[in-house]
Amino acid sequence: MVLENKLGITDSSELARQEEKISKKKALELFEKGILDSLEAGTFDALAKIHKHLFDEIYYFAGEIRNVNIAKGNFRFAPVMYLKQALEHIEQMPQSTYEEIIAKYVEMNAAHPFREGNGRATRIWLDLILKKELSKVVDWSKVDKDDYLLAMERSPIKDIEIRELLKQALTTGINDREVYMKGIDASYNYEGYFTYKTGELK
Ligand SMILES: Nc1ncnc2c1ncn2[C@@H]1O[C@H](COP(=O)(O)OP(=O)(O)OP(=O)(O)O)[C@@H](O)[C@H]1O
Ligand SMILES: [Mg+2]
Repeated sequence: MVLENKLGITDSSELARQEEKISKKKALELFEKGILDSLEAGTFDALAKIHKHLFDEIYYFAGEIRNVNIAKGNFRFAPVMYLKQALEHIEQMPQSTYEEIIAKYVEMNAAHPFREGNGRATRIWLDLILKKELSKVVDWSKVDKDDYLLAMERSPIKDIEIRELLKQALTTGINDREVYMKGIDASYNYEGYFTYKTGELK
């Protein structure tokens, strides 16, 4: 079962390949055309615009709030019914210290507003906040992917692990293209989503 896409692809590995290629190209555009600089850090609107830009050539739902419930591992992301409300709340969360920014990032991950592509879009969104508030960004090449995933799985319960993991990777290289692009690697996880309304594994 492959997510419906604008490219008419029905093979999941082919879709993953194209998705990675296109979203990387789009991520670079976000950076180089100064689009990121025009966004208001920490708002849902900024995240939606990032997501739309990354995935508009691929998915009909780019930049749109999902209308199905989803889970990963045994964590259920915000139910569709409360998603809008959750996003309004998250947007209001403070972001003036590193700890506050991570708490906000963790909440946004728990909301998981889009059907797919949340990880990539939200990592860019996180960097935008760090850049604006602290003049720092995460050097994702210094973040081990398995450690990241474990820390994110743990984050709804305790955010100390993701906080420590990303702290040691902070850099002042805020305009470094390579540092930025490392966060867009689509390989932070390979497992499928479980759509819990239909019980269908996608
Ligand atoms: N069990 C879990 N509990 C909470 N958050 C999780 C869990 N598993 C993964 N995540 C988070 O969800 C993100 C993946 O979401 P999604 O697949 O929508 O985004 P993506 O951009 O396709 O993936 P990736 O982050 O792998 O590039 C991960 O980066 C991680 O932050
Ligand atoms: Mg994914």
